[in-house]
Amino acid sequence: MSTTYTVTVEPLGKEVSCREDQTILDACLRAGVWLPHACTHGTCGTCKAEVLDGDVDHGEASAFALMEFERSEGKALLCCARPRSDVIVEGDVDVEEGITTHPVRDFVGTVTGIEDCARDTRRLTVDLDDDIAFHPGQYLQVFVPGKGVTRTYSMANPPAEPRRIELHVRRVPGGLATDGWVFKDLAVGDELRVSGPYGRFFFRQMREEPAILIAGGTGLAPIKSMIQHILASEDEQQLTLYQGARCLDMLYDVDFFRGLEQEYPDRFRYRPCLSEEQVSGFEAGLVTEVLDRDMASCRGHVAYVCGPPPMVDAAIKTLMRKRLFPRDIYREDFFDESDKANGGLNSPLLKR
Ligand SMILES: Cc1cc2nc3c(=O)[nH]c(=O)nc-3n(C[C@H](O)[C@H](O)[C@H](O)COP(=O)(O)OP(=O)(O)OC[C@H]3O[C@@H](n4cnc5c(N)ncnc54)[C@H](O)[C@@H]3O)c2cc1C
Ligand code: FES
Repeated sequence: MSTTYTVTVEPLGKEVSCREDQTILDACLRAGVWLPHACTHGTCGTCKAEVLDGDVDHGEASAFALMEFERSEGKALLCCARPRSDVIVEGDVDVEEGITTHPVRDFVGTVTGIEDCARDTRRLTVDLDDDIAFHPGQYLQVFVPGKGVTRTYSMANPPAEPRRIELHVRRVPGGLATDGWVFKDLAVGDELRVSGPYGRFFFRQMREEPAILIAGGTGLAPIKSMIQHILASEDEQQLTLYQGARCLDMLYDVDFFRGLEQEYPDRFRYRPCLSEEQVSGFEAGLVTEVLDRDMASCRGHVAYVCGPPPMVDAAIKTLMRKRLFPRDIYREDFFDESDKANGGLNSPLLKR
């Protein structure tokens, strides 16, 4: 039996029980106490908080996201910090108006489908043992069997489909979870242990401006969830999707989005972009170059950007040059272990 400590979250004054082998963020999210977070793996720094009293083990926090001097000043990354005594932490608990918090829970899933949908890209379909409530854009932590670690994958299905989960996984050469498991021996019928929902990259219902959605690689997953959710709603919000890949065989779900364009001609515009191949019917160039050509100004829009960190950074620079403010841009960086080791942090202006 592991020891349990009490974590008090200020300024809310809420008390949460946390096992010594559990992160403070995990205990809070499971108890329905919302704390800001993005990567949940010690890379982005979003969950940084002050430890006002008590001791924590900093775990796997990246030395870039939590610097040595910050540790000595009593700061901690709550997605990595585990209590070693009763603890009082003070976080930036700015819960946005009108957002429901869905507490994190554990699920057992069964893999019902594995499809090679593009080069080095797999679509997994997983049936959960219970419905999961989430906001479109949120993600799951997936336990990698036998490795004692989790990896994070965004849900591509809309919340209206809470039992059958769709994940898009890109192979990372030498990657523990992808090369070593999903692309190696994962099979239909296998059990998948997951927890969720996590993350704050989700569609904001109250933002009714036309939305620009930019996806690189499997960064499409959370954006596909958002698009299906928004188009199925009564809202009249207009959406433009910029989906980027280097070559045609790396782009997927093209027919799906072309179908949506036909179904919702006044609401949905699809801009598939290829940066290293010219193919008729597809835009030539990086998503940022195509966006640059398409729009003189992005003022009056809201943007959602997701994919590899360099692509997300480039997209955000373009959007800001085109007159969008940080408050109008929501981002998800698909950080991995190399970003953690090398420092994945970028503009502190933007909330992750
Ligand atoms: C919020 C979020 C959502 C995500 N959603 C998705 C998604 O929907 N789809 C998707 O495909 N991916 C997604 N990712 C990325 C995903 O979580 C994994 O990081 C990715 O699949 C790689 O996992 P892996 O175990 O295969 O690779 P890892 O074993 O983690 O390796 C990744 C890279 O890091 C290098 N590396 C490993 N350890 C070290 C070290 N100590 N020092 C330096 N380099 C190292 C490896 O060589 C490799 O190049 C998401 C990430 C985040 C943060
Ligand atoms: S959420 Fe803790 S470092 Fe990213």
